[in-house]
Amino acid sequence: MSTHQPGTRPGTAQQDHGDAAAPGSHAPLVVYFSSVSNNTHRFVEKLDARVLRLPLLTGEESPEITEPFVLVAPTYGRPNGSGAVPPQVVKFLNQETNRRFLRGVIGAGNTNFGPAFCLAADKIAAKCGVPVLYKFELMGTPEDVHQVNQGLEQFWRQFPQLRA
Ligand SMILES: Cc1cc2nc3c(=O)[nH]c(=O)nc-3n(C[C@H](O)[C@H](O)[C@H](O)COP(=O)(O)O)c2cc1C
Repeated sequence: MSTHQPGTRPGTAQQDHGDAAAPGSHAPLVVYFSSVSNNTHRFVEKLDARVLRLPLLTGEESPEITEPFVLVAPTYGRPNGSGAVPPQVVKFLNQETNRRFLRGVIGAGNTNFGPAFCLAADKIAAKCGVPVLYKFELMGTPEDVHQVNQGLEQFWRQFPQLRA
């Protein structure tokens, strides 16, 4: 496990997974938010990618990313239908540099919310002008993990400019 990788500022909790995640490698970079229920965390830790978890508390400093990355964000809607994007993710995306290097978004949610399923991903995509790459429920299935791993690899290979 490394504490600092190229393309990010030091001082934030970071993890990497195996060879594909070696610092300086061209493995996809995935930035994600996950609350204390950790569903998204459980999904992301199965990906063949370098991963960076956003701070749990909005009072904590948000990282600045300086290389292309994909964001994974769960939806937290309010009863009145507002919200959807967790404030920790809003804070992260309020930094211009982070929006500049964002290449796509993957949504996490719960289909019980009907039309609001993974709404945060739709909102982020519309606001930042990037594609929604995938949506999954709760901590995802092995098939979701497989699809996202394949998709990330393809996405990174297809667009060489995505790499650092
Ligand atoms: C208060 C609350 C509101 C939620 N609102 C939505 C929603 O609008 N749409 C959706 O798809 N999922 C919604 N969810 C489900 C979460 O996105 C889902 O449980 C997700 O896996 C949480 O990820 P995390 O455990 O990594 O934080 C909501 C969950 C809670 C607790």
